[in-house]
Order: sequence, then C-alpha cells, then structure tokens
Amino acid sequence: MVTIRVHDKEFKEYLPAVLIQQRVTELAQQINTDYANKQPLFLAILNGSFMFAADLYRQIKLDAEISFIKIASYQGMRSSGQVMSAVGMDQDLHGREVIIVEDIVDTGKTLHHFLPSLHQLEPASIRIATFLHKPEATTFPVLIDYVGFSIPNQFVVGYGLDYDGLGRNFGALYQLA
Ligand code: IMP
Repeated sequence: MVTIRVHDKEFKEYLPAVLIQQRVTELAQQINTDYANKQPLFLAILNGSFMFAADLYRQIKLDAEISFIKIASYQGMRSSGQVMSAVGMDQDLHGREVIIVEDIVDTGKTLHHFLPSLHQLEPASIRIATFLHKPEATTFPVLIDYVGFSIPNQFVVGYGLDYDGLGRNFGALYQLA
C-alpha cells in the first residue's frame, strides 16, 4: 500500500491519480453539456481548489473564463453572524453564469456564509462544483451541483488539499492512516 508522511502523520492512498483524472473528465463533460452555448465564469476558491480547477478547466470546451479568489471571514459590526467575503474578485458578476470551484465541502460553513454576498452581485446563476464532499460532516445547508467524490468523514490530503500547509502537491488523494 502506498503511504506518505506529512508533518508528523502517516497517510495512505485513498484515490489514485488516474481515478481522479477520470472523474474530473466526467465532470467536465457534464459541464460542457449543461452549459452548451453559454459562457460560464469559473470562480475557483484558493488555496485548495487550484489543482482541481486547473484540471477541470483544461477540459472545458466552452468560451469560459476562470478567476481565482480567496474567502476571508470577518465578524459583522452590527450582526453577530459570521460573514465571508471574497478577496481578489475583479470580475463583474452581473448576469454571469457562475460556477464555484471548491476543493472540499466539509461542514459547508464557508460556502453557506459566502453565497449570500455572491448573490448580491446579481449573477444569472450560481452552481457549485466541488472535488470532494463529506456528507456526514456537512451541517450547513449547501446545494452542490457537481461532486467529484463523496467521502467518509476522515481527514485527507493531496490533489490541492493540505495538512498544515503541506501535501497539496500530490496527484493522488491520501487518507489519515
Ligand atoms: P467547510 O467546513 O465546508 O467550510 O470547509 C472549509 C475548508 O476546510 C475546505 O475548503 C478545506 O480547505 C478545509 N478542509 C476540510 N476538510 C479537509 C480535509 O479533510 N483535508 C484538508 N482540508 C480540509
């Protein structure tokens, strides 16, 4: 069995690189069909989604743009609710078909708090494509349109995902051993 060490922890291979590539191809084909004759804008959420976004976007046959943003959280001045806002958003989203690209939807907290601010920019539509989803961990309601793999509630690294800054560079996905 293939194992890797990241910081102090052992991880074992969970999804081989070829399987990931096959699934990304399927997702790209699905998006190519769903958005035929449209010009979607991919909004990739940094840092984790960079590898998935690159592989997915490479196989998009549409007149599609891609933009990379970071999501920063801050405490609203008046409300007690948490607000997530985009850093690096230099695109006009008005009337655009937006496809958010995420590495993983875990609790769903990030997207759940970020989506309202995106809706305020009045895009024509918003869909979510995520490489991974942990359904057992998701407690904030988020509607996901494209899921690479649904995985159990265990910590994973590789294919863009990190453990304390390391492990993003692996082409396969690894699970805590
Ligand atoms: P959320 O809980 O859905 O808001 O996910 C927030 C972020 O936590 C994701 O975008 C990932 O960057 C990170 N994350 C969640 N689960 C994992 C994991 O298993 N490995 C690495 N990063 C993770």
